[in-house]
Amino acid sequence: MTLPPAPRCSFASDNFAGAHPRVLDAVVAANTGHVMAYGADVHTAECEARFRELFGPSAQTFLAFTGTGANVLALATMLKPAQAVVCTNWSHIAVDETGAPERILGAKLIDLPSVDGKLHPEQLDELSHLIGVIHHAQPGVVSLTQSTELGTLYTPDEVAALCETAHRLGMSVHVDGARIANAVAALGGTVAALRSLTVDAGVDVLSFGGTKNGLLGGEAVVYLNSEMATVAPFVRKQVTQLASKMRFVAAQFNALLDDGLWIELATHANEMAALLHRRTVDLDGVELGALPRVNSLFPRLPAAAIEPLREWCFFWDWEVSTHQVRWMTAWDTTVDDVEVFAEGVAKILATCN
Ligand SMILES: Cc1ncc(COP(=O)(O)O)c(C=O)c1O
Repeated sequence: MTLPPAPRCSFASDNFAGAHPRVLDAVVAANTGHVMAYGADVHTAECEARFRELFGPSAQTFLAFTGTGANVLALATMLKPAQAVVCTNWSHIAVDETGAPERILGAKLIDLPSVDGKLHPEQLDELSHLIGVIHHAQPGVVSLTQSTELGTLYTPDEVAALCETAHRLGMSVHVDGARIANAVAALGGTVAALRSLTVDAGVDVLSFGGTKNGLLGGEAVVYLNSEMATVAPFVRKQVTQLASKMRFVAAQFNALLDDGLWIELATHANEMAALLHRRTVDLDGVELGALPRVNSLFPRLPAAAIEPLREWCFFWDWEVSTHQVRWMTAWDTTVDDVEVFAEGVAKILATCN
């Protein structure tokens, strides 16, 4: 079997991608002279204004270095003593943050079972028996991931229903939007779509992802409920997310938010996942679900195909026992990368059938 040369991009994660040239140019352009540190600079002011344009005049934005840091900052400012965070058993905060929320917040995570990576309002109602009982951590914050760790999406109505239920039960709502751009792109790619998923739906605090969508590194915690932002300047420092040279994080976001680049890049990543689905869904041995809405696919493959394929072009396992893997596209995945990858998949599968 002769395989083509491996694609230029892996299909492992959007974290594997580099930074967009316009983001790099913005960092270079911001690299002039001395400016005030810790966010008292023009780039950060511009960035905060850009987020106000997206979310409305009362939105308050706090930049952070990492997605885990953004989530911890958001949750730390939302939780009261003895409260717990409600999330799914797939959520990044429960599974992939090395226990950072538990350690740093000193709070329990109630990670509810989910087959689609989403929470449903009934699950929140079912927690009401905990409320007011002194022996139980009190459900205080609901944390949703958008788009989810399983590549699914909450619709605006679903987010609104969760917010309504959470607020009725006295909880606030956080969205881990490490891939919010992919969700917005899937729902039409407009500012109206972003708002319908967040501020209009009643979300209190959003972790707005940048790193997976073309930044060198940077995330933003956007407070849509401005009361919760009061302590954020202090808590950000405590949880080690206050950048002294904040201009460089801000400059990256300014480039990403300029002229809709964030939507363009996420739309492209989603389209590349859809193309990969079309090219592989009918191959003998590939078990794929429906067309992806965002930038990840979770195929089941013949066990014997996985290692040779991965050796040729890297990707991660998802569920080893069922031979399920994850293929993820990124802002810089090209049509050619997808075509070559699909050709390699077909060739390797042909040797297994
Ligand atoms: C859903 C989700 N949230 C947050 C993050 C951010 O994590 P990190 O701390 O690695 O930037 C990730 C990264 O994989 C993620 O998938």
